[in-house]
Amino acid sequence: MKVLIVGGGGREHAITFAVSKSKRVEKIYAAPGNAGISELAECVDISVMDAERLVAFAKEKEVDFVIVAPDDPLAAGVADAFLDAGIKTFGPRKNAAIIEASKAFSKDLMKKYDIPCAASETFDSAEAALEYLKTSKIPVVLKADGLALGKGVLICNTFEEAEEGIKTIMLDKKFGDAGNKVVIEEFMTGREVSVLCFSDGTTILPMTSAQDHKRAGDGDTGLNTGGMGTFSPSPFYTDEIARFCEEHVYKRTIAAMKAEGREFKGVLFVGLMLTPDGPKVLEFNARFGDPEAQVVIPRLENDIIDVMEACVDGTLDKIDLKFADNAAVCVMLASDGYPQSYEKGFEIRGLDNFKDKDGYYVFHSGTKFKDGKVVTNGGRVIGVTAIGPDLVSARKNAYEATEWIDFDNKYMRHDIGKAIDEK
Ligand code: AMP
Ligand code: GLY
Repeated sequence: MKVLIVGGGGREHAITFAVSKSKRVEKIYAAPGNAGISELAECVDISVMDAERLVAFAKEKEVDFVIVAPDDPLAAGVADAFLDAGIKTFGPRKNAAIIEASKAFSKDLMKKYDIPCAASETFDSAEAALEYLKTSKIPVVLKADGLALGKGVLICNTFEEAEEGIKTIMLDKKFGDAGNKVVIEEFMTGREVSVLCFSDGTTILPMTSAQDHKRAGDGDTGLNTGGMGTFSPSPFYTDEIARFCEEHVYKRTIAAMKAEGREFKGVLFVGLMLTPDGPKVLEFNARFGDPEAQVVIPRLENDIIDVMEACVDGTLDKIDLKFADNAAVCVMLASDGYPQSYEKGFEIRGLDNFKDKDGYYVFHSGTKFKDGKVVTNGGRVIGVTAIGPDLVSARKNAYEATEWIDFDNKYMRHDIGKAIDEK
């Protein structure tokens, strides 16, 4: 089988790695891919948003199976373009990817179908939002409706901050059209956990749990980022919580999407907060998380193509999804200055140290080739993942492995997975 993977970050590298292990796959293409992905796949320089060229490429190469991994092309209907051209494609259609692309939509869905989440109201005018704020409890959470690179959520600790936030989102349009509507949400406290689930539109199979670290600095300080590291499984996600979420969140959400005529096929990423009143949904994403994928996928024991194909075919009930009984930690190596300004183009040394080392992985996020060398090409550069029999040893292994790689302005957090010590 020939497979095309759309995307070019650490998540796509982890997916490409799993696809490359499938006995059913003879050739992998990636658009656009990156330096790491190019070791496993033929990379082709087509933008993830260029549906027309992507479909033409897939037809020309007689691709049998496409995986659309990132949020923007899913929200824009790139999976639809492949499906409508008769090509088997993993990833939700645009009308289902809206569960991530519009927070107003997902909040309405959760309210309508009684899926536990924070109390909230949605506004499309700044005046009405500001008026409502006067009655809100502080802290309060503001969310721009649309996709904003994970940066459209503001947690406001004073009334003045919240007022400023409404202006930033709705009047100054800091996040562009994503801020045409705003969701004002009750502030919740608790542990966060991400559960990625495969779905074929009817059946939903949760994967092993994970936790991301979104802030740039140690001790959860500094700005929000795309994710500085992850661990899996989360010791806070007990069997009892998992059973509750299966019943009240995962199954209900997939049934709700179907009832709305928006059958969801692909990966539903459920961001949860384990509050004192029980688990509540923070957000839905319509894809694998990054860097969640970098700890979840290495622990997957199934052939990923079998699972993804079952999602497309509607036969997920036949799949026995299995994860290794171990743990994984991923530490993101970033460019100093991320998520604001940073330099790139520095040579990355030491990648060969990972060759043939069982239980250690490097997944490239922002890298490229320059004069035959791999150089830094983004804020998040490389995810270093290590496996261990438990979380403490996986973390020790991962931090040891971060020392095998070196580049100028290398930056990382030193406390990924530290929360597990409290368990
Ligand atoms: P989201 O993109 O909706 O997941 O929000 C990004 C981050 O903001 C989450 O991972 C949480 O840490 C935080 N957050 C979002 N909504 C809330 C809420 N209602 N209460 C407390 N923190 C929140
Ligand atoms: N790591 C969070 C995300 O992928 O949205």
